[in-house]
Amino acid sequence: MDAGAGTGHYLADVLQAVDGGIGVAFDVSKHAVRRAARAHPRLGAFVADVWRPLPIRSGVADVVMDVFAPRNSAEFRRVLRPGGAVVVVTPAPAHLSPLVEDLGLLSVDEDKERRLARGMEGFTEVERRSITFDMELDRDGITEVVRMGPSAWHTDPAELAGRIAGYIARDTATPSGAPTKPRKVKTQAAFHLSIFETVSQARIIP
Ligand SMILES: C[S@@+](CC[C@H](N)C(=O)[O-])C[C@H]1O[C@@H](n2cnc3c(N)ncnc32)[C@H](O)[C@@H]1O
Repeated sequence: MDAGAGTGHYLADVLQAVDGGIGVAFDVSKHAVRRAARAHPRLGAFVADVWRPLPIRSGVADVVMDVFAPRNSAEFRRVLRPGGAVVVVTPAPAHLSPLVEDLGLLSVDEDKERRLARGMEGFTEVERRSITFDMELDRDGITEVVRMGPSAWHTDPAELAGRIAGYIARDTATPSGAPTKPRKVKTQAAFHLSIFETVSQARIIP
């Protein structure tokens, strides 16, 4: 099960990597769910709010994944089969740096790690990986990553587009005023991938 699955991109990759198996994606956005439903032949998708009881039987999910989306640990525990696991991906403070600072976007709360552990009541984190890689983004790429983040909800879209255009144009004007080739901006992806098991079954992986 993929909670807050968006377009179902990651769940489709997981299904591609395993033989058989069925994936269910849900999201509060019906537009996202429409896309997710078409992401893979073995994927079903439905609209649901993670904060409400999910229309899924208890004890049936092998894995619950949650990528950059809200988590409801009580519901995740209920739908997991015994021995199942939750995979959570969260942004690290350095995610999209220096774009976040340069564009004045909302940054990752430094306390998020502690809140994540608190928010997974009844689970123990048995494995954690930190993943970082560099990206070079043009204007479209910047617009896409900004639209995926929290600033898209809290900032006027026209204002955000203006900020991105100004940022891109910053170094592209030559002394004659003619623009040079489209600028690409270096930024980094930085996130944590954690695996949680229910407290009763957890075996700590060294
Ligand atoms: C940053 S996007 C991540 C989407 C997807 N997991 C991915 O990584 O591509 C967060 C997703 O959570 C969904 N979401 C936000 N609040 C939700 C809620 N209360 N219940 C279900 N989905 C929610 C949003 O609609 C959005 O698709």
